[in-house]
Amino acid sequence: MSGVNTINEAWLAARGLVAGGFTDEEAIREFEKKFAESVGTAEAISFGAARMGLYAVLEALDFKPDDEIILTGYTCEVVPNALVFRGLKPVYVDIDAVTFNIDAAKIEAAITRRTRAIIMQHTFGVCADVGAIREIAEKHGLRVIEDAAHSKGTSWQGVPSGALGEVAVFSTDRSKMFSTLLGGMVTTSNRELARRLRKIQGNALFLDDRTVRRILFSLIFEVVFYSPQLLWLGLSVRTLGEKLGVFFYYYDLMLDAFPANHPYPSRLSAVQARIGLSQLQIFPENLKHRREIAAWLQSRAGWYHSMAPGEQSCMRYPILVRDSQALVQRMKKRFDLKGWCSIPYQSPARNPENTGYTPGSCPIAEKVSRHIVTFPTHPKVPLGVIQVEWMKHEKWILENLVRL
Ligand SMILES: Cc1ncc(COP(=O)(O)O)c(C=O)c1O
Repeated sequence: MSGVNTINEAWLAARGLVAGGFTDEEAIREFEKKFAESVGTAEAISFGAARMGLYAVLEALDFKPDDEIILTGYTCEVVPNALVFRGLKPVYVDIDAVTFNIDAAKIEAAITRRTRAIIMQHTFGVCADVGAIREIAEKHGLRVIEDAAHSKGTSWQGVPSGALGEVAVFSTDRSKMFSTLLGGMVTTSNRELARRLRKIQGNALFLDDRTVRRILFSLIFEVVFYSPQLLWLGLSVRTLGEKLGVFFYYYDLMLDAFPANHPYPSRLSAVQARIGLSQLQIFPENLKHRREIAAWLQSRAGWYHSMAPGEQSCMRYPILVRDSQALVQRMKKRFDLKGWCSIPYQSPARNPENTGYTPGSCPIAEKVSRHIVTFPTHPKVPLGVIQVEWMKHEKWILENLVRL
């Protein structure tokens, strides 16, 4: 559920529907420049989605087939997709049971002669163990790629996420911190890497005009319908709209082969870049709102042992409960509490062998996938609504809370 885009951005999308101009490089460069400034890197290079940005990064870093890349066992399936599409081998490391980030103490055991990089994901915007990961990377001569899909606004020792590794990949998908409905951004201060990424971007295709129009239409629809008051209606309208083909989202989760209905990697359109510029302007309020909600939930649930909301993006507020589906059902008319990431082998549509995941190898990630629910923090959900809904269910939640 999106909640980040504004009425003003719905107007930008509507104007784009009429005026076109989807490949205007000037708007795209402007967005990239401002995005880079916002995270303090020399460069930012946009793509159609974070998964495609990652795919480009893996090429720019010149990894070779069968090179091994370490990543968390609790992530979005499109991350190992990008690796597998490049012929690389994902090596999963289990997670910490509170932060849901990769457990740095388990990384070294996964390193082999073929290991080339560690993907450092900040799950739900809570900063990964940056110091430990960097130290391991340095000791073994590995690259650090930040998966910053959830962490626009997170910082570590005053340095923003996006500048914490050699290169970072952001998602500007509607469900993330910062929405261009669909989209991705790669940030780096390594000029040579940036030059290679620009070349890959230059060779990537824009989506066709009809698809961009469907994206813009989806954004307008979400601005109107995705609020706690209208979510019940919005979800039904979306199902209908998808059947009629008026909306467009990437459905290349869990694939074993390149998607057939759009280019991969694709480019971000200029209208989405203009929407991104608007998002950058209002980002401080967005972040403040999320932190307020997370701080309140932290005061009730106390999930994190220690958490400084001022340093986290607080994209979602997660907890584990015995029967996660029961809580999802209890709250489904108001919020979508879904667990977000999962473990790769759970994907029903996917050949488990192609994920490279051995069932049982990340036991904590597997348990977390079964028990997690995540509360939304985005600006369309007022703190008061979260408070009312939480208090209605608090007794049940606290009785059912699970700590691993
Ligand atoms: C941790 C993580 N990384 C990467 C991605 C991919 O982002 P995108 O949908 O923009 O490709 C996601 C998407 O949910 C994610 O959760």
